[in-house]
Amino acid sequence: MGVDAIVLAAGKGTRMKSVLPKVLHEVCGVPMVEHARRAAVAAGCDRVIVVVNPETEPAIRELLEPLGCVFAVQDPPLGTGHAVLQALPLIQGEEVLVLCGDTPLLTGDTLGAVVGLRRETESDGVVATFEPADARGYGRIARSGVQVEGIIEDADCTPEQRRNLKEVNSGVFCFATEAIQRHLPNVAPNEKKGEIYLTDVVNAIHRAGGTVQALGDLREEEFLGVNDRWMLAEASRIMRTTILRRLAEGGVTIVDPASTYIGADVRCEPDVTILPMCTIDGATTIGSGSQIGPNCWIKDATIGRDVRIFMSHMDQAIVGEKCRCGPFSNLRPGAVLEAGVKIGNFVEIKNAVVGEKTAVSHLTYLGDATIGAGANIGAGTITCNYDGFQKWRTTIGEGAFVGSNSTLIAPVTVGDGAFVAAGSVVTKDVPGGALAVGRARQDNKEGWMAKWRSRKAAESGEAENSTQ
Ligand code: UD1
Ligand code: CA
Repeated sequence: MGVDAIVLAAGKGTRMKSVLPKVLHEVCGVPMVEHARRAAVAAGCDRVIVVVNPETEPAIRELLEPLGCVFAVQDPPLGTGHAVLQALPLIQGEEVLVLCGDTPLLTGDTLGAVVGLRRETESDGVVATFEPADARGYGRIARSGVQVEGIIEDADCTPEQRRNLKEVNSGVFCFATEAIQRHLPNVAPNEKKGEIYLTDVVNAIHRAGGTVQALGDLREEEFLGVNDRWMLAEASRIMRTTILRRLAEGGVTIVDPASTYIGADVRCEPDVTILPMCTIDGATTIGSGSQIGPNCWIKDATIGRDVRIFMSHMDQAIVGEKCRCGPFSNLRPGAVLEAGVKIGNFVEIKNAVVGEKTAVSHLTYLGDATIGAGANIGAGTITCNYDGFQKWRTTIGEGAFVGSNSTLIAPVTVGDGAFVAAGSVVTKDVPGGALAVGRARQDNKEGWMAKWRSRKAAESGEAENSTQ
């Protein structure tokens, strides 16, 4: 039986005070609506239909269309039932799961349980419910035994209902497609607000002799809806703990969970150690035995086994096994370190391959370069890769030695085993095994300082006389 998901994301999200659509704000490195899509897919949904408004459509489409989502535009937004109505023509499965795009903590397990209960009980619908500490703002569940007779929105409750009905609607539903298609189009707008409420379809099904059940007693935390930036921070805090715990259970040592920020898609092998104050994000992977931190910022990096990264920054870099980086290394996109490379302080590497066991220990920029294995790049080496118009490559051979403070003006090649004398400006290719010296020759003037001092003394004497 095919299940389609409908993700409601047409709300304005004004309380976020943001130009970015609310559901595109990230929780642990992943946009909220993508969390919703993943949970729906994990629950077995075949297709995900996202209800958007005309302003947010382009940005949400850009993110989710490549991931196979389809879109229904709701214009203007006239309530949750109205939102689902827009999606009805797109449904292909026999069942439909409805969830919100701003509840990032929902799990595939819970959504799967909602779908499972509907199948098991052959109900027309199932609603996920819980009993919150504070039920204000939630629709209340009116039951008769296991059957849900209706959902009464907070604003429409009598004082008695508000007091007595503790179980609330989480906003997650599973319906038989046939039932929602039959009943939702007949739901009248709410009298007070004029909106079409999805919650009213429950009562419509009940009155027509259908059945709706509740999957109750769920954890309130999982349904946290993000309305503003503070709730976004709260959702991130909760998810962060979940991520850290999952990693710890998988054999990762997290020395200080309170100062460790790891994104939802980061993967670590067992026996990785994360020291305090690290942010590790994107699709980063870290191999066994590696130690990261303290004070690292790492995104979309592939880090091998037994690596040490200390107080460093890394974005889209590939770091081979047994490398050492930091303190204060900056690996930018396209930096590739083969095994056993050492990168030291104030070294920036961009779009460059550094060969096995090469050392780049201090104060260096390597951009658009290929460096062979076993080379030594001295302090202060700069690849001049940009002429103001175009980028050029530098190639440094295996076992080459580049002396300190060398300036390599690309395009240029330093051959295998060649030696560049310290302070050289290299403008021509250096053949393998050659010595390149590209600097002014030193000239020592014997006894020059004594003459200089006496001349200066005489001049200052004259100056004193002239001021008297
Ligand atoms: C809704 C439920 C309430 C439930 C609560 C759980 C209704 C009428 N009420 O109330 O019973 O307890 O969620 O959090 O369904 N949206 C659209 N188009 C619209 C209106 C809303 O796409 O026209 C989307 C919003 O972007 C949001 C979701 O639907 O993701 C829920 O809307 P919201 O206005 O937050 O509903 P609540 O008043 O919280
Ligand atoms: Ca809400």
